[in-house]
Amino acid sequence: MSEELSSPVQFEGLEIHDMASTDWVAVGKPGLFYKPARVDLDSGKFLGLFRFDAFAESGLHQHVDVGASYILSGSVTDYSGNFTQGCIGINPPGDTHDALSYDGALITSRLEGSSIYPPKAEELNAIHPGAYRHGFQNAGAMRDPIVVPYHYSGIEPSKGHPEGVTMRLLYDYAGTDHDFRMSSLHLDPGARTGPFTTQAGLDIFVVAGDLEIAGQSVKANQFVSAPSSAELEISSHFGCHLICWSEAPVISEGPDPFGF
Ligand SMILES: [Fe+2]
Repeated sequence: MSEELSSPVQFEGLEIHDMASTDWVAVGKPGLFYKPARVDLDSGKFLGLFRFDAFAESGLHQHVDVGASYILSGSVTDYSGNFTQGCIGINPPGDTHDALSYDGALITSRLEGSSIYPPKAEELNAIHPGAYRHGFQNAGAMRDPIVVPYHYSGIEPSKGHPEGVTMRLLYDYAGTDHDFRMSSLHLDPGARTGPFTTQAGLDIFVVAGDLEIAGQSVKANQFVSAPSSAELEISSHFGCHLICWSEAPVISEGPDPFGF
């Protein structure tokens, strides 16, 4: 079952999802919500926002597949530490944790699969769509060192990009089944990436500012998703900060704008 809950605007294969006009889905446990741009309740694949109100707790769960997230506001805490605004949150397959937010949190995420919760008789009200009850696999395994709070601004920008374009590779999906990249892209006012052609899916969340893509304007708190074979260029009139999830290298003259 696949659900499109946010009525995306479509333009030449691009889909724009406006989170300001998309309703929160209450997951049934106090203070936990998600807001989908794209969600599949069978597979747990998800693109969208998560919200923890203050003192909300996810409950102990194990990630079946990758979650790659960026903290937009507030904080969420687990045994690795305190993931605050501007931090990256990576959950590799098998990652097992219980996350609590002391002050509330808003998170933008792309999940490649769902999560499992310990077998219990009570109803499951999980933060991650498509979660189910099952015994954990290898729950005592050492946690992947990628699961630590790190701030995007602490990552050195990659070299060789056009003037005014600052790209930071946030996560390379190493050791997973996905050869994807998660990146942070800043465009100064008037900057452009140069033209490129996608070879697989590309998802972008506009954290701040204005984005121009294929003649479409996308603004803060909106997602834009492109399919394979899309001929695109990204630019900004007044500057923007983007979080991007790219499923394959793009074809371009210069360095890949999304971290490949
Ligand atoms: Fe989690």
